[in-house]
Amino acid sequence: MVSNPSTGPIGVFDSGVGGLSVLRALWQHLPNERFYYVADSLHCPYGDHSPEEIQTLSLGIADHLYEMGAKAIVVACNTASAGALTALRAHLVDIPVVGMVPALKAAAGLSRRATVGVLATQATIAGHLYREVHERFASDVRVIAQACPGLVEQIEAGQINSPDTEALLIECLAPIIAARADVLVLGCTHYPFVIPMLRRILGPEVLLLEPSDAVARQAGRVLVARGLEADPSSGSAVSTLYGTTGDPAAFQHALHRLLGIDGAAIGLTWKQGRLLQAEPHPSY
Ligand code: DGL
Repeated sequence: MVSNPSTGPIGVFDSGVGGLSVLRALWQHLPNERFYYVADSLHCPYGDHSPEEIQTLSLGIADHLYEMGAKAIVVACNTASAGALTALRAHLVDIPVVGMVPALKAAAGLSRRATVGVLATQATIAGHLYREVHERFASDVRVIAQACPGLVEQIEAGQINSPDTEALLIECLAPIIAARADVLVLGCTHYPFVIPMLRRILGPEVLLLEPSDAVARQAGRVLVARGLEADPSSGSAVSTLYGTTGDPAAFQHALHRLLGIDGAAIGLTWKQGRLLQAEPHPSY
């Protein structure tokens, strides 16, 4: 394999629209770069899949991003990072892969009550990445980790302000509220889209930590270290291509609703473990 050149896009992927919260931060921090965002909506939520399935899907997407010329990959999904980051790095040895790590280290340092809540998918909480971070950086604080089954689906459906979503969140947050945690780590990239609701439920006292800015900064550092950053003089404004294994029209609606952006998405299909464009796209 020969590295893709620094003119290539940064590949970004998630099980669905959650990674758009990371893409938004990447746009802010890396305004000269081009991006190719893949949503594997067909298999969303990843939290319902086995670690082996999550790894197979992540490797298939990574191969597709690489074939599309990606010079680096940002795994904009905690569940895929938990299940596949090590395998992705071993597989794509010549391009950098940046992943999501639950912000437990920062949370442990910031909690005045030494009590931290984590909201993430069950797969993330059960994964070894989470356990490692917990043991290494948060062993001296009380950590209440809660999954919230159904929340990713609500956000995918655009229900970021509905009574059903609020009822679900109130239920999932109950143990965290009962423990009087003063910091809440958002361990899933979908969850930043319900921050206004989380604030209403938790009140102003609880600090919400979501790592998209930190991940975007890390991606920037990695590009510089590898000499892969885009040449500012060659660039136009940020350009992003979107691909989805789900319904492109539904993705476009979500893009508009969640980020206020109008963009076209191309259809992608899985074929014998490989991810392919339904039609070749002219941009990349
Ligand atoms: N955005 C993914 C994450 O950060 C969603 C998980 C899922 O698809 O279950 O974990």
